[in-house]
Amino acid sequence: MTPTAKSLPAWVDRLRDLLTANMKENKDLISYALATTSASDAQQPRVRYVVHRGFVNERRKDGDGSHNLIQDESGNDLISDKLVVTTDARSPKARQLAEQPKVELAWWLAATQHQFRIVGRAYILPSAAFPTHEGTEKATSSGTTEQQQLSFPFPRKQLSPYDGFNWEDERVRQFRKMSPELRASFYRPVPGTKLADSDVKMEDLPQTLPEGIEEAEGEEQKKQVEQALKNFALIVIDANEVDLVDLGSTPDTRTVWTCRDGENWKEEGVVP
Ligand SMILES: Cc1cc2nc3c(=O)[nH]c(=O)nc-3n(C[C@H](O)[C@H](O)[C@H](O)COP(=O)(O)O)c2cc1C
Repeated sequence: MTPTAKSLPAWVDRLRDLLTANMKENKDLISYALATTSASDAQQPRVRYVVHRGFVNERRKDGDGSHNLIQDESGNDLISDKLVVTTDARSPKARQLAEQPKVELAWWLAATQHQFRIVGRAYILPSAAFPTHEGTEKATSSGTTEQQQLSFPFPRKQLSPYDGFNWEDERVRQFRKMSPELRASFYRPVPGTKLADSDVKMEDLPQTLPEGIEEAEGEEQKKQVEQALKNFALIVIDANEVDLVDLGSTPDTRTVWTCRDGENWKEEGVVP
């Protein structure tokens, strides 16, 4: 039986429309600042830019490496309201999210003068071959460091656009969609580790990698794609508060959407 598309909160449509308008003016507006906290470092906030890779299962075509369904029988897109980012499962941010999933992101859509701030929880979807974070060391209270394995909690059902959604297909689809240069970056040594400690030279590493193992030329490249795919992870963001400031209107406006029960969203206008 074909699943039925979930109804999406109004902020999702708003964000998708604004994104289309902004991208027409400036493709760089696809990035936002994502803040995490490092539980192993006295709740220190950490922030960095990441690229919005759409909502879960937001796709334009079949034959993109995913067997997941695109639309329901009524022609509605089978997407969820969860935002997707791609990253390296060995990175510090992946460790921070394994320790503490609470995040906030801030997104300035300069072409239309809108700010989105989204609060929620973010979960890492790693490869099956990479069930724990083993990249960075954790500081201990005695001032030394230790290697601590952390598993990645991932509430599959809660994040899925429909029952039976195949998450590995979604991960592979996103890998295939990346530029050849970005795919190659997942074959590098652990992000954030010292170059001096590495026994490989960055210039000796492949600068591009093909979409998948089937497209690889030769055994060596096949192994490189396998390794890159192993390190490649999704970050899936489950929002519970969305704050939209519109500085493009006169007077400026501010709308806040909140979801306290994991299901129903409430919309309110507030003073900017
Ligand atoms: C515009 C821009 C977009 C970026 N997009 C991503 C991204 O989508 N995923 C990612 O892991 N890092 C991305 N980066 C790099 C991160 O900002 C960061 O430097 C790196 O991931 C290490 O972060 P961490 O130490 O917090 O793990 C981007 C950087 C810039 C400047």
